[in-house]
Amino acid sequence: MITTTQLSQFAIDTMEGLRKPQKTMMSKYFYDAKGDGIFQQIMAMPEYYLTRSEMEIFQHQKDEIFSQVCPKGLPFNLIELGAGDGSKTKVLLKHFLKMGIDFTYYPVDISQNILKELVAMLKEEIPELDVRPLHMDYFEALKHMEQFTGRKNVTMFLGSNIGNFSEERLEEFLIKLQGYFKPNDKLLLGVDLKKDPDIILNAYNDKPGITASFNMNLLDRMNNELGADFDLHGFKHYAMYEPVTGEARSYLVSLKEQVVRLDELDFEVAFETGECIHTEISKKYSVSRLKELSEKCGFVTSKNFYDTKDYYVNTMWEVL
Ligand code: TRP
Repeated sequence: MITTTQLSQFAIDTMEGLRKPQKTMMSKYFYDAKGDGIFQQIMAMPEYYLTRSEMEIFQHQKDEIFSQVCPKGLPFNLIELGAGDGSKTKVLLKHFLKMGIDFTYYPVDISQNILKELVAMLKEEIPELDVRPLHMDYFEALKHMEQFTGRKNVTMFLGSNIGNFSEERLEEFLIKLQGYFKPNDKLLLGVDLKKDPDIILNAYNDKPGITASFNMNLLDRMNNELGADFDLHGFKHYAMYEPVTGEARSYLVSLKEQVVRLDELDFEVAFETGECIHTEISKKYSVSRLKELSEKCGFVTSKNFYDTKDYYVNTMWEVL
């Protein structure tokens, strides 16, 4: 029985997701301490080109990025949604400081654990940086941004995180974000581009199985935090890429007919053989689609920065 104990948001969202006709889990729940660690392994693996493409753009084009971000040398707030471990962002942070600009860095992340790591790393490597971490999800961050009125705001949303929204949710999000923009505010998005589908699929389906363990960690997390009895051998990670929509999708597929009990929720969920939990969309964009998206959401594109392979773009948007 669910009685006096307050259910966590994770518990509530899990129950809601597993009750849907097409079972689903929200991807923000990948990022517990173990998930953060596995995601760092994903970023380091050769198949996951996204991290290196974005790193290359920052390393080679930081001067041009800086002149877009801060053409007049005025102080600004730098807000990063889904900052993670900051391994790429620090290239920009160091460069901006070197240019002698006054700015405050607000990393936003759903994982308290990774925010702590990030702050510790920055203290060590860039002690002069003014950092104010915000532990919240993107939608809470949007609300929080209402308060950022005084200075110029530069918002960064890197690592192809926008790909994790469905198109409708993304438009809704960007339109809201645009509502807070003043002229001269900037948005820097990191976006993975459509390309050879095999290259994309490999990034979400590496042979050693690191991505598989990342996806499967959701089951482990439910076992640990919600008293569930998911049999980890009874499910497998399955990834696919659909080149028309540009969606890389990740699933957890039940390999047998089974009933799973989540003790903390006093809830049982049945799986047929082959039935899946949809866990993630990582949508890839074309350059033309991105431009349409910016216009639809009230932005104009001021500049695109590409890596040498044209796998990835950092696109800079503003409002007029
Ligand atoms: N934001 C990352 C991306 O879409 C997250 C990610 C990488 C991911 N590999 C994954 C999520 C595999 C789920 C499954 O690229």
